[in-house]
Amino acid sequence: MRLFIDSANLEEIRKAAEFKIIDGVTTNPSLIAREGHDHHDQIRAICGILDGDISAEVVATDMEGMIREGRALAKIHDSVVVKIPLIRDGIKAVATLSSEGIRTNVTLCFSPLQALLAAKAGAYLISPFIGRLDDISHDGSELIREIVAIYDNYGYPTEVLAASARGPLHVKEAALAGAHVCTLPFKVFDQLFNHPLTDIGLEKFLADYRKTLVVQA
Ligand code: E4P
Repeated sequence: MRLFIDSANLEEIRKAAEFKIIDGVTTNPSLIAREGHDHHDQIRAICGILDGDISAEVVATDMEGMIREGRALAKIHDSVVVKIPLIRDGIKAVATLSSEGIRTNVTLCFSPLQALLAAKAGAYLISPFIGRLDDISHDGSELIREIVAIYDNYGYPTEVLAASARGPLHVKEAALAGAHVCTLPFKVFDQLFNHPLTDIGLEKFLADYRKTLVVQA
């Protein structure tokens, strides 16, 4: 499973990139707004930090506007994947951008049938929002499972990107459900490393090693 960082914060992206196991970054207008910089400048800066797929979202809601913005975003850097909302005009825009070789990430997906439409339009990635579904007592991981099954049935190349992960359990559920990619906030990425038995085990190994030094001395 590929791991993306869900952030527009350069410091977080830099820290995550140091591990050399992060395959991309997802942004959205809310994440970019939090950083207080121009949208395109921020995307350009992110592309300079991490070598991988960098999702940048359009803000137009009509087909022509989304296509225009998508083309402009794709020109920023080869790594850019244009994020398009799963609305009627969005699907039309995805079909056009895909036919031009521009990779798209269809966002705000909450049903397997919406995901089917995105795959038919040639989306590179589909982003089901598991956390936001869980927020309203729906099973986000079941959605991932259903989309993966439908795509497998017909051999669609669109990759399933589990988005809106709120904690380590979401990442595990996404992996078990067969998501190709999971995007996670830096805080959640950091939490994945933790296990108390790792800390206790390491402490004991080092303590035992120190004892052998005393014996040798
Ligand atoms: C990423 O592509 C999504 O925009 C993001 O994961 C949404 O996360 P949220 O539901 O925590 O805002």
